[in-house]
Amino acid sequence: MIPQEIIRKKRDGAELTGAEIKWFVDAMAREAIGAGKVAAFAMAVFFRGMTRPERVALTLAMAHSGQVLDWKGLSLPGPAVDKHSTGGVGDKVSLILAPIVAACGGFVPMISGRGLGHTGGTLDKLDAIPGYRSVPDIALFQRTVRDVGCAIIGQTADLAPADRRFYAIRDVTGTVESIDLITASILSKKLAAGLDALVMDVKFGNGAFMHALKDARALARSIVDVANDAGLRTSALLTDMNQVLGLTAGNALEVAECVEALVDPGRGEARLMAVTRALAAEMLTLTGLAATPAQAAAKVETALASGAAAERFARMVTALGGPADFVERWQRYLPPSPVQRPAVPARPGIVAAVETRAVGLAVLALGGGRKGREDQIDPRVGLTQVAGIGETVGADRPLAVVHAADEASAAAAIAALNEAYTIADRSAATDAAAGAAIVRERIGQSKRRPRHQAGAP
Ligand code: URA
Repeated sequence: MIPQEIIRKKRDGAELTGAEIKWFVDAMAREAIGAGKVAAFAMAVFFRGMTRPERVALTLAMAHSGQVLDWKGLSLPGPAVDKHSTGGVGDKVSLILAPIVAACGGFVPMISGRGLGHTGGTLDKLDAIPGYRSVPDIALFQRTVRDVGCAIIGQTADLAPADRRFYAIRDVTGTVESIDLITASILSKKLAAGLDALVMDVKFGNGAFMHALKDARALARSIVDVANDAGLRTSALLTDMNQVLGLTAGNALEVAECVEALVDPGRGEARLMAVTRALAAEMLTLTGLAATPAQAAAKVETALASGAAAERFARMVTALGGPADFVERWQRYLPPSPVQRPAVPARPGIVAAVETRAVGLAVLALGGGRKGREDQIDPRVGLTQVAGIGETVGADRPLAVVHAADEASAAAAIAALNEAYTIADRSAATDAAAGAAIVRERIGQSKRRPRHQAGAP
């Protein structure tokens, strides 16, 4: 095949065949075609879009461009199930959720990413735990999933290598924001992880990748349909990211919040726990580990209240090289930042709105995130006691407590938080904003028969 003919066909809005897509992806993975052609292909898809069968073909071709994990060979006594979030500020759900699902009989091989830009990455949070091997070899990963029920690790070079090259080129050619390409990118990695089922947490709001609910819904619909067509049982929840999730943002600080929530779930911040419970229950019903949503919710409660989820987390940390007493003595292992200052608001009142992306960028500026892939992270820095929408703030209740490496960066973060927060007088509008449900919608498999589905007459 001739790559420029495939690019030209897509440029003109025609539908590519599965064979053309597979050929292009294989050539891309082998680096048999240059970055210019890959970028032109991405831009053609960006403007012309892909049909559902094209997206399925792209996803499957990228998934099979490297190693595909096989959990069947380990004879796990339960389903291999994962959750994937499109990312947000303070999104620490995975650290609480994976052990809950493990305690309920699921096996969670969770392959997570590092943070880039304003969103944090699960892997950076776990790297705050001394000794934790976030990129173990596949044998240790599989052993931990089998023995503990969950393992959260980073992406290995062997999984979906075509996506790694494609994403790197999209990242520098203005072609990331395509629902077709995002769908294939996320799902190729999940299919390569050999899962039985997947639950997506698609976030919307000013701290999310997709700001508008309707765009998040379209992404969720695409992911759910393509995943199910590709043989991966998948559903999605649309969750609100118009404020920081939980009370902390910053790597070690978020780990501490999760350990406290696992050990004493009653103290977990309400929105964080609501999202975590909903996603965990969805994973249990999707896999048949619970027969009904009510039964799933009850199992999740038992896993939390009995301490079983906390115990799974402790075992996961130990199995992957972290301290054996981490859950009991996390304070010993997560050193505090040298400077801690309250971000007192310029005026007292009610939090009416938060520019969440700006809060994420403030954490990044403190050293808690990276501007480029090679940047080092300071795990100690970030925010605690982050005020939520509807809360009263003033001299006695800051917008957050800033944890910084030095006074200058603390002062900059305090100024950034004051810019990011809108403080108002109490009104019906602030009450309504505070009461908005965090889990907004569920997107299940569509009943509609896809056009030209593979094998369809
Ligand atoms: N996350 C991914 O893994 N891929 C994308 O294309 C966008 C977000």
